[in-house]
Formats: sequence, C-alpha cells, structure tokens
Amino acid sequence: MDLLDLIPAPRHVSSDGDGSYVLDSGTGISAGAGTEPTARWLRGTLGAVTELPLPPQTEGAAAIRLAIDPSLGAESYRLRVTETGVDLAGGGAAGVFWGAQTLRQLLGPDAFRRAPLTAGRQWAVPYVTVEDSPRFGWRGAMLDVARHFMPKDGVLRFIDLLAAHKLNVFHFHLSDDQGWRVEIKRYPKLTQDASWRTRTKWGHRASELWDDKPHGGFYTQDDIREIVAYAHARHIAVVPEIDLPGHSQAAIHAYPELGNTDVIDTSSLPVWDTWGINPNVLAPTDTTLRFYEGVFEELLDLFPSTFIHVGGDECPKDQWRQSPTAQARIKELGLKDEDELQSWFIRHFDTWLSERGRRLIGWDEILEGGLAPGAAVSSWRGYGGGITAAKAGHDVVMCPEQQVYLDHRQAPGDDEPVPIGFVRTLEDVYRFEPVPPQLTEAEARHVLGTQANLWTEVMENQQRVDYQAFPRLAAFCEVAWSELPAPAERDYADFERRMASHFRRLDALGVGYRPPSGPLPWQRRPGVLGRPIEGAPPNV
Ligand code: ACM
Repeated sequence: MDLLDLIPAPRHVSSDGDGSYVLDSGTGISAGAGTEPTARWLRGTLGAVTELPLPPQTEGAAAIRLAIDPSLGAESYRLRVTETGVDLAGGGAAGVFWGAQTLRQLLGPDAFRRAPLTAGRQWAVPYVTVEDSPRFGWRGAMLDVARHFMPKDGVLRFIDLLAAHKLNVFHFHLSDDQGWRVEIKRYPKLTQDASWRTRTKWGHRASELWDDKPHGGFYTQDDIREIVAYAHARHIAVVPEIDLPGHSQAAIHAYPELGNTDVIDTSSLPVWDTWGINPNVLAPTDTTLRFYEGVFEELLDLFPSTFIHVGGDECPKDQWRQSPTAQARIKELGLKDEDELQSWFIRHFDTWLSERGRRLIGWDEILEGGLAPGAAVSSWRGYGGGITAAKAGHDVVMCPEQQVYLDHRQAPGDDEPVPIGFVRTLEDVYRFEPVPPQLTEAEARHVLGTQANLWTEVMENQQRVDYQAFPRLAAFCEVAWSELPAPAERDYADFERRMASHFRRLDALGVGYRPPSGPLPWQRRPGVLGRPIEGAPPNV
C-alpha cells in the first residue's frame, strides 16, 4: 500500500524524500482566520483515533498550520509536509477542508477509524507536496429518503462519506408518493399521516409480493437544522427536494384537496405502497400553489442553499386531461396543452424562489412545455435534457441514469442484492464523462457539475445503500473532482491500484461496499449462477 494512493487523484502530488513527520502529544493546530471549522474537524476526527490532544496553538508553535491563501481558487488547496510539520493552505475555507481530507488519507487507513487499535502507536505523514483543485463546483450525490427512510444518524454518516470523497452537494430527496419526510409546522398531517405507509412492495415494481410491515419516519425541523449545520461544517450544501406536481401521493393522502378531486376520490388514496409512475398528481389550483408556498417558506428557513429542487419528473397528465378544473385553468391562462400547464406550475415556483434570492432546479422534464427563465436542470434521462438546457443558456447538473444511477446493478446476472436497471460497473462509472461533446466550450460552462443518484425503492436500509454506493462513489468522486483524460484514455488500472488502498479506508470507516470480486462467490459455481429463488420477486 502506498500512502500516495489518493482518491480522488490530486492535480499534482510529489513525494519529497523518504522521511515523514510524526505527530505527538505536543502537536498543535494553528487556525488562520476562516479555517477554525477545519481545525475543529481535525481535532475531533484525528483526535479520536490518535488520542492526541491536537490543541490550538499559535502559528509559530503549531506543527499543523492552517491558512487561507487568496491566490488559490476557493476550493483549491496546497498541502506541504516537511520536517517542520504540515502546512495546509486553501484559497477559501472549503479548500482547507478538502486538504484536511487528503491529510487524513496520508495518515493511512487506520486514521479512518473512530478509536485506536493499539494505544500509543505512531502516526506519521510522509513528506509530500500536494497541489489540488476540483474540476467541477457541483459534485453531488442524491439520497432518496422517501422510498425508504434513512434515520438521521445514517444521513449524518452519509454526509461524512461524501466529505471523505470531496463531494460538496447533498441532494436530499424528501418527498415522494411513498412518504413525506420533513416536518412542516403549518401542515402537521404531512408527517402525522404521510410519513408512514402500511406496507411496501417487495422487490421491483413487477413483483406481486408485499412486505406487510409498516415503514416510515421523518426529520423534525431541529433534525434538519442539525443535518444542514453538520453538512455546512463539511463544506457540503444540502439541496432539498420537494417533488411536484407528480410524485405527490403522500401529500395528497394527508391533504386530499391537493389532488384532482373532480377526477377521483382523493380522500381514499393511501401513502403509496408500490413503485413506479403514479397517476395521482397535484391539481393545478390556487389552493395547491398556496399550500406549497407554505411548504417552501418553511424550507427556506431551514435550508440556506441557493438551489431548491422542485422535482418536476414523471408527472402523468391523464388526470389533468380529464379534470374540468385543470382544463379551465389551461383556457384561462391561454396555454396550449397539459405540458404547458406543468411549465406554468414550475414557472410559478421559479418566480417565487427567485423573488426570495434562491434558484429553482428540477429534473429534465421541466423542459417540456418550456423551461422557466431562471431554472437549472438535473439531466437524468440521458444527456439530452442537459444539452438542450445548456444550449439555451441554462445551468445543468449532469446525472444521466444510464451512467450514474447507483441504485442500478453493478454486474450482470441476478446475484446482485439489488439487481435492477442498467449494468454499471465500477469501471463504467470511472469512464463516465459529464460534459458531452455536443456542447461548445461556452455552453459547457453551464454544466455546473455532476451528481450520482441513489433511489431507494429496493434499498431498504443503510447496508443496501452502502453496497450500491460503494465502491462506485469513489470512481464517481474522481470523475467529479479530478482532471481526467477522455473516457477511453483514463488509466483505470491505476485507479484500481489506488482502490486497493481505498478499500482499506472504507473498511476502517465500516462501509458495506460491494466486494470487488462480487457479493457471493459460492453462487458463481457453474449451474448456480442466476438460478431463480422460488417466490422471489422478478427483477427489472
Ligand atoms: C427520476 O429518476 N425520476 C428523476
């Protein structure tokens, strides 16, 4: 194992001789203005595992010296380890924090544990110079906590894992047909009635089987404040998503007046217990608009992020076609069709958010019927939506499902614990290129970055999320952070070599990743591979 097996790969790294700097009980940290949160993080994280006090000291006395160097980019850093200690400078506070992540990797995999294995072991950092900066400003991961709830502790752990991979956006999918997960004080039934469902489809949507146990949970507003502050201290922005006007059956269950009451009896809709695209969408009425303005008003108090995600995906228009109210609205607004009605919905919140100094982002369906003026697009159905949006001057986050939906299977065959979707191996993710060749250089500047998405229909718990996310999130973080060559020219063998070290870090962190050789070696004996298990749900 080589301590310089850094992931994501830095722009420049050089080994400065054979020696190393040894931390001891006298090692202190000096925190230049703005770097105090990173000093606290180092003291907490490295202090726990090394059992060294790492006290605050003056710059003259400290061996770990943190500083801002405005000549560097905001997220860039320079890390030098010499016989006098560790000099870590960042262009901004975030850069210093990313440099601290590199410093932890340089201490070896045991630095990723929460307590030492043996008392009094030596902790040494090799003499090295690292100069580094990210390729993209948006390096995101989405976690769907609506399909399966992740208790707060797991969310905080997930944020720590993002930080360890230098990812800086946590897209928090907080509502869907199957559950509402955030306390909204003025609408208590959203969490009282819509945060639990009575049963859950077992397996993917084609399955005929249900798990008959109730499932649910939600975050109080104080939980959300804690999560946001925890992420902020790690230079991660939390972008909340409230999905509308589709994927809203849980909200309609709690407040039936939000649905198309002139088409169906919305008072009988449960919190949905299966997967797929749900026909029961929000009614395009003033009641609905005012309701969601109320939701977003509380969210803006909780989430300081510039971007607020409003979903916009997979909204079937059948009920609007049948609804006299929706049709009257189309006529009154002079719209052409139901697609334009969806655009009207999204535009309303685009304006509403812009007036409050925020920006709307939505899935690429928000292009249909015309994109709202300030909207940014999460391009998920492929690159197409992102290309169209970028060419029209809109900002884009590239997260095509064919490439970076990490809920999708990691190998062919049915041995995978979550055998759904496209096969995307670790190498496939490593060779993912967020900027498509169809964009000119100027258009490509609208690609804010890229994001990996974790939908949790068939990921019931943290162990499943770990398995799907890792090790692929390590490949993804290098795509998002490092300046890599074109996909075919990427040195995957070198990445794999560095992954040998990274697996030891993930082991120390306790991440339940997919083993590189696959999950169940005994199942791959001839004749056993792919044998259907009686009663198991069919896979998609
Ligand atoms: C999505 O995957 N429906 C955004």
